[in-house]
Amino acid sequence: MSGHPTPTDDPMVDVAGRWAWAEVDLGAVAWNVDVLRRAAAPAEVWAVVKADGYGHGAVAVARTVLDAGATGLCVALVQEGEELRRAGIDAPVLVLSEQPEHQLERSVAAALEHTVYRSETVVRLAETATAAGSEPVGVHVKVDTGMQRVGADPGEVLDVVDAVLAARPSLRLAGLCTHLAVADEPDHPMNRVQLDRFAAVVERVTARLVAAGEDPSTLRVHAANSAGALAHPGARRSFVRAGIAVYGISPGAGVDQLAAELRPAMRLVARVTLVKRVRAGTGVSYGLRHTFERDTTVATIPLGYADGVPRRLGTTGGEVLVGGRRCPIVGVVTMDQLMVDVGGLPVGVGDEVVLLGRQGDEEIRAEEWAARLDTIGYEVVCGIGPRVERVVARSGPDPLATRSLRGRAEGSAASTSDTAGRAMPGPA
Ligand SMILES: Cc1ncc(COP(=O)(O)O)c(C=O)c1O
Repeated sequence: MSGHPTPTDDPMVDVAGRWAWAEVDLGAVAWNVDVLRRAAAPAEVWAVVKADGYGHGAVAVARTVLDAGATGLCVALVQEGEELRRAGIDAPVLVLSEQPEHQLERSVAAALEHTVYRSETVVRLAETATAAGSEPVGVHVKVDTGMQRVGADPGEVLDVVDAVLAARPSLRLAGLCTHLAVADEPDHPMNRVQLDRFAAVVERVTARLVAAGEDPSTLRVHAANSAGALAHPGARRSFVRAGIAVYGISPGAGVDQLAAELRPAMRLVARVTLVKRVRAGTGVSYGLRHTFERDTTVATIPLGYADGVPRRLGTTGGEVLVGGRRCPIVGVVTMDQLMVDVGGLPVGVGDEVVLLGRQGDEEIRAEEWAARLDTIGYEVVCGIGPRVERVVARSGPDPLATRSLRGRAEGSAASTSDTAGRAMPGPA
């Protein structure tokens, strides 16, 4: 296109250090929390920010969701909880599964809440908390109601609860939880089975708490992920543990309609690095697996599978947006670069190309990649690698309104770059 930025007058070049970056729209994150709060009320929303906020930058997302009314955070690893604490976040942070024993000291020091399902873990945790002289450590006992991943079997839950009660005051029974295996398939009979099993366990644990002289109303009961929050009123309970919906991505085709209000928070953007004319019959990329049927123009884009753009996206119909038009990726995606057939479009070096997100009237969503790649939107955004710098953008209530860039996403994988926090002129 004419008037495209040159390397020297394009502010994004300085921010990203390369002609490719991921914009993280914190306005969309806040909007999505609002959608979830309305859907789940009176249940609260705890946002799942593991895996660097599903690739969006855990700290920036955590601050945004808490400002937007989420009351807690969930992580997968102790290190992820520590990162939030280092950033000064003091909201409740729940680690979603048991951790290696040698991590318990760090976990207690960071005042994280723990998911437990083995009495041995409870004992170790109590010893660690006692040795540290910490405040009572909050534990959430997890029940495996049918997913066969983590959690105590329903028949063993009372043993784990008893171990927690025996460890008072070092430990405090803060929660009782389970996880649904097919929440994104609302009509699947297993949802009912799991929720019924869970309800029976909640009843038994409540009775045990009363017998032990505890106030059962302090127990936080939780079972819903994003799909549970959107589609299963019976799963909402005290709070929902919402991940993917916070990032504006549908948990699965079965709940697409319920997720329609969500706004994708990530835009994956690059600039054209080379444009060349090719003749009909020419092959492109490794293996020359795509041959052009007509003379055309090929644009090279500096993102590849080392950045999380899967190699096979080029051979499964993947497209990018150039000048608001869809153009096919041609040939296999290489490690650092991919090629696009831009046909007759007037494309120049430095033009913006959108791989995920909106450009003009067109939009490519993570769900679209997922369908082409036989995966889920989660894997798409979590897969965008640390070489791709995250840049913060904030849209207002109108998702199509001009964005103003405020700097790099704090806490993102690329946070060691010397461009941190620079105020950026907008629009992008
Ligand atoms: C235990 C648990 N709860 C909640 C979530 C969030 O799920 P979703 O991203 O589908 O909302 C996850 C994510 O994997 C999880 O493992």
